[in-house]
Amino acid sequence: MKRQPVLSVEDLSVSFRMYDTGLEQADLQVISNLTLDVCPGEIVAIAGSSGSGKSLLAHAVMGLLPGNASVTGKILYKGMLLSQKEKEKLRGKEIALVPQSVSYLDPLMTVGAQVTGRTPDEKTLKAQKEIFQRFHLKEGTEKLYPFQLSGGMARRILVSTAVLSNAQIILADEPTPGLDLEMAVEALKIFRELADEGKSVLLITHDIDLAFHIADRVAVFYAGTTVEIADAEDFQKGPKALRHPYSKALWEALPQNGFKPIPGFQPYAKDLPKGCLFSPRCPYKTEECEKEIPMTKVRGGYVRCIHAD
Ligand SMILES: Nc1ncnc2c1ncn2[C@@H]1O[C@H](COP(=O)(O)OP(=O)(O)O)[C@@H](O)[C@H]1O
Ligand code: SF4
Ligand SMILES: [Mg+2]
Repeated sequence: MKRQPVLSVEDLSVSFRMYDTGLEQADLQVISNLTLDVCPGEIVAIAGSSGSGKSLLAHAVMGLLPGNASVTGKILYKGMLLSQKEKEKLRGKEIALVPQSVSYLDPLMTVGAQVTGRTPDEKTLKAQKEIFQRFHLKEGTEKLYPFQLSGGMARRILVSTAVLSNAQIILADEPTPGLDLEMAVEALKIFRELADEGKSVLLITHDIDLAFHIADRVAVFYAGTTVEIADAEDFQKGPKALRHPYSKALWEALPQNGFKPIPGFQPYAKDLPKGCLFSPRCPYKTEECEKEIPMTKVRGGYVRCIHAD
């Protein structure tokens, strides 16, 4: 039986209206035709270099894009098309964000109040104590203010807040930097437990090796779009099991796989190439690659490459 996604992003494009030289306005397309979904019980990891649109996707889902952003495409929660108003209603309740920056913590509120709300019931307090223990946050941490926390503590507080929100979906935007390995593994373990209880997690991460081991599927982003979505198992197996030249290159660039750098640079939104966004770096490029490239199903996964087999 096909599972129903709890969150679907369909053909999402995001551009920013920017002032170019003088008073000229230009639209800068930073996300292009992005499609992704996550089902109940599932962790979908999002991998991709800096600037590939990972945080913007999370912000688009949460309704947190700035005023100069224009958005096309659809974002559906349990099959319901989300308007800005609905996103605001669901934010922090049904859909929770672990933001990439710890500056999202409210500087004027104690840690405890941020994690549990100002008037928590017994059950919530118990859950807060448990998660603080797992994260090695000493008793009394709840009475501190954000400026009294180290970066790693602040990160653990952000993860705790999202977990205790009881949301159906957690969008975790790089939740592990600043954490030592033990704490990073603990955070990922908590996400896995939530998914096993039927929740959904979109895990944006640079620790792709860790992510491959706890995620169910992996989506690879490049220059604001998905180039491959496949079972995490394929990413553990390596290049032969993968479909897109960029995913293969990403795998080979991991330290344990030889640290092979990928020649060239991800294009800047202002200078996107025609057709395949990876084409300037791709050794397999042909003339046909200059056409618009859709996502297609290949060996049970999805890939945006006309020469993938
Ligand atoms: N408010 C903004 N105005 C203009 N460009 C933006 C804005 N926010 C992000 N961008 C651009 O969009 C691209 C994707 O950003 P982001 O989603 O933050 O990348 P990442 O994958 O590192 O999380 C980057 O090129 C970034 O410079
Ligand atoms: S579509 Fe063409 S240029 Fe793009 S990744 Fe595939 S082979 Fe390379
Ligand atoms: Mg980011």
